[in-house]
Amino acid sequence: MNHIIAPSLLAADFTKLDKEIELFNESEAQWLHVDVMDGVFVPNISFGMMMLEAVNKLSNKFMDVHLMIVQPEKYIESFREAGADMITVHYEACPHLHRTIQQIKATGSMAGVALNPHTPVSVLEEIIKDIDLVLIMSVNPGFGGQKFIENALNKVQKVKQMIVQSGSSAKIEVDGGVSLQNAKSILDAGADVLVAGNSVYRASNPKAVISDLMKF
Ligand code: DX5
Ligand code: ZN
Repeated sequence: MNHIIAPSLLAADFTKLDKEIELFNESEAQWLHVDVMDGVFVPNISFGMMMLEAVNKLSNKFMDVHLMIVQPEKYIESFREAGADMITVHYEACPHLHRTIQQIKATGSMAGVALNPHTPVSVLEEIIKDIDLVLIMSVNPGFGGQKFIENALNKVQKVKQMIVQSGSSAKIEVDGGVSLQNAKSILDAGADVLVAGNSVYRASNPKAVISDLMKF
């Protein structure tokens, strides 16, 4: 199966966002990954639904929204209205995860669950068939440009097994520190979607890096 590349907007140059999105539109990447941070769930603040709405007007591709916020259930409908095609919430931020997943699906959006590096994949056993995406964090969430945590590869393998055994159709996304150097091992472990921030947007030729990431 062909994998998906999702450049992360967080690494784009915000002084020329229209150009950065234009570059993404012209590239082979299929998804745009948008990181929403609230300064509470993670020690950083990024952007919210107003920004997403503006970006959605310029982007013609699938909008992959990663909510690193507490109480995401308060804002699901707003993010959908702003243009989200996939809404991913953190397991660690959702005491009523099943309800939140149903809420996301009711808006017509696809639904994903993200796991922090310390969270075992086994917590998804009872919900794996209800979700469209498992996001394995390969850095601690909050910042771009961090070093890939190797144990993420074990987690990808485990979640792949769970998906196959349960008959779930969820895709596996890996987010954080993904580069041309480690992309192959991540895909070999079973990943379907690679998020790439710094390795794409900080490259001298981002479109070429996306194209190279597609080739594995
Ligand atoms: C980190 C974010 C990532 C980040 C990835 O909290 O979830 O999506 O933008 O950036 P890189 O690829 O630079 O690690
Ligand atoms: Zn992310």
